[in-house]
Formats: sequence, structure tokens, C-alpha cells
Amino acid sequence: MRKAFIAGNWKMHKTVSEAVDLVTALKGALEGVEDCDVAVCPPFVALDPVRGSLEGSTIGLGAQNMHWEEEGAFTGAVSPTMLQGMCDYVILGHSERRTIFGETDEWINKKLHAALSHGLLPIVCVGENLEQNEAGETVAVCGGQVRAAFEDVAADRAVEVTIAYEPIWAIGTGVPAHGEDANDIIRRAIRDVLADLYDEDVAEAIRVQYGGSVKPHNVVEFLSQKEIDGALVGGASLKADDFSEIVKKGLAAHLGE
Ligand code: 13P
Repeated sequence: MRKAFIAGNWKMHKTVSEAVDLVTALKGALEGVEDCDVAVCPPFVALDPVRGSLEGSTIGLGAQNMHWEEEGAFTGAVSPTMLQGMCDYVILGHSERRTIFGETDEWINKKLHAALSHGLLPIVCVGENLEQNEAGETVAVCGGQVRAAFEDVAADRAVEVTIAYEPIWAIGTGVPAHGEDANDIIRRAIRDVLADLYDEDVAEAIRVQYGGSVKPHNVVEFLSQKEIDGALVGGASLKADDFSEIVKKGLAAHLGE
């Protein structure tokens, strides 16, 4: 059974002192929670202070993005070398990076290689927009994003990756996908594609999260699905009470309790 993995993507929220307050509250709220990987992904400037606050805790730390080059004239960018040793995870290809900042599948593939070669555990986001969803293109779009991201990634490294299925129309809208639909898309657009790229063992080993309006009241609907191993939580990860409730309820659902 794949271990549950619930991560909070704080996006462009929280000053450094607010980030430290939030993670300090979370640490207390999640004390004693085992059998689940939990991570927070604050903005870059808060990574180091949050890391300090997390000392002695099992909560992991992730960045929200990175460049693929180790250094160079890339104003405003942060490299894998800078994140190495600073955090455990890095989110790659979030739909906001793709749509607002113009990131391409090719970039995301380069970032995936760079993350893996610098000891960072990638969370690769895929997802369709409303138009693609309504046109029946979801499996083709998401499957294509998975194929492109994993190009030339060896099987023994691929299993270190987590994939987050985040339908764009569900992000920040308060309108989540239905659990069964997300489960079906993950089977057909992610696991079947991974089985084709690698084999069934790799497809079954990779953890897949659902993201898009996950809240304490709906997390069970997702984490009780066979193909869904966790959640990538945006808005509800900004409050310690909500996020810890999501972790506890989600973990129980995943374990079939
Ligand atoms: P919301 O939970 O705010 O919908 O955001 C989801 C998301 O984009 C996480 O990466």
C-alpha cells in the first residue's frame, strides 16, 4: 500500500513571520500523526525560517518551483543547488506556473531531471482546464503532460516522483472534482500512461495526489479512492486547524478506517 502524502501549497501567501506562526501551530496540531507524509510548501523567502521551526518535527518542507540550471543569469530564479539540503520536495509544473508564467512541458521535464539529480523529491502537477474538460480531452491532456514530464527519466528515479492531478477548473473555485471521476482520470491518464512508459510495478509505486478545492469536509471523498494517495491543498493549507483536520481525516480514509 502506498503511504499517504498530504502537502500544503501556500502559493504567494504568508510573510516570513506569518509562515513561522503557521508552521509552529501545525507542528503542535499534527504531533503524533504517523504513517503519513506531510509537507508544507511556503514561498522561497520563508523556506529557511520554516525549516528552523520544523526542527524535531516529521513535517517535510517543499519549494513551489525552481529553475533547472544550477546557476547563471536568470534574474529572479532559484536553482536546485540552492534548494538542495534546504528542503525535501519541490512542486513542478503547477498549473499557475504553466498558465500565468508560460512554463512548457519541456521546461517541466528539465526541472524534473534537475530535481532528481539534486536529491529533491518532485511533485509534478498535471491537469486540464474547463474547456478541455468539456471537450472530453482530459485523459489526452493529462496523459500528454505525464509523458512529457517523464521523458528520459529512468524507472528507478521515476518512483521517487509524486504526481498531483489538479483539474484547473477545481483550483481555488470551491468546486472540487467528484472523487470517483478523479480516481478514474488518475487510472486512465496517469497510471495507465506510467504502465506504458515503464511497467505496472512503476505505475503502482508512484504516489498520486488530488488537488483542487480540497477541504476538511470533502477530503474523505478523495482519500478513500483506490488510486488517490494524498492531496495537494491550496487555500485550506493556510489555516493550521483546517490543514491538520485534512491530514487526520485523509489519513484515516486512506487507511480505510
Ligand atoms: P486550492 O486548494 O486552493 O483549490 O488549490 C489547489 C492547488 O492549486 C494546490 O496546488
